[in-house]
Amino acid sequence: MRSHGTPGVTAALLVSTLLVAACGGGSTEPITVVKDSAGAVSFTGTVLPILRDHCKRCHDEDRKGGLYLMSYDGVRKGGKRGPAVIAGDPEGSQIVGSVEKRKEPHMPPRVFSALTEDRIAAIRQWIAEGAKNN
Ligand code: HEC
Repeated sequence: MRSHGTPGVTAALLVSTLLVAACGGGSTEPITVVKDSAGAVSFTGTVLPILRDHCKRCHDEDRKGGLYLMSYDGVRKGGKRGPAVIAGDPEGSQIVGSVEKRKEPHMPPRVFSALTEDRIAAIRQWIAEGAKNN
């Protein structure tokens, strides 16, 4: 009985995992921003994991709005409203407007966790730095 604290911790983790699942996924934990060798925010290391966590349910095979967010090419190609990203212009990029709920459609839809500020800041910075395939 040396590790009598463990079952409680395991149960707490299970409950929080179930809660997140019930809310439709999308973590609100602080993120680690991964940079490329030039010091720019990495698409593969930072942006794609955010999109996988929050957007995969509808922008993988389902391509809601004609938008596939599970690859660099998909993000750059955009959806039925046109490009999701304008390199160098985070403010004007549809994806940023959507997650900041400034532009329609607001994303992710209401019942899912909104993106935390550090996630939005990382996406903004990646776009500001040229939206590279890094
Ligand atoms: C539960 C499903 C769902 C999730 C999760 C979701 N979306 Fe969407 N998304 C939609 C639907 C449905 C549309 C089409 C709505 C419309 O055209 O008005 C859409 C459309 C969009 C569009 C507009 C595409 C275009 O060109 O018209 C953007 C941008 C977008 N989503 C970004 C995101 C991002 C970024 C995430 C993750 C942070 C996300 N979405 C998560 C369902 C979802």
